Amino acid sequence: MTTDFSRAIPLCPSADLHEGSLAVPFDVVYAGETCRAFAVRFQGSVHAYLNRCAHVPMEMDYQENRFFDDSGRWLLCATHGATYAPDTGTCVAGPCRGGLVKIVLTESEGMVHWHTANHIQPIEF
Ligand code: FES
Repeated sequence: MTTDFSRAIPLCPSADLHEGSLAVPFDVVYAGETCRAFAVRFQGSVHAYLNRCAHVPMEMDYQENRFFDDSGRWLLCATHGATYAPDTGTCVAGPCRGGLVKIVLTESEGMVHWHTANHIQPIEF
């Protein structure tokens, strides 16, 4: 039997993630399917989610990597306006139920890493 320990995968330099601004995209395998994911910075901390709306499972950024609303306070789905809290991925308004699928990030020494989980794995080349 194999145990699936979480692995830390390099994502981007810390300097690439600006407060309330464009996201850094990356790809993962989620439940066996290749999916886009994105990382943002909010109130100083980094957060990442699958790029998959909790309303209809489609990508949320109509303008590439733009997830924040104009205020930089909420993450939006461009399709029907579902609105999510950037720090938890919880649906706060719009047609979504539940929330976004969170991916664990860590930040140290100027680098951001994402962490695998049983259902979220790297793409193997
Ligand atoms: S698909 Fe995102 S709000 Fe409908």
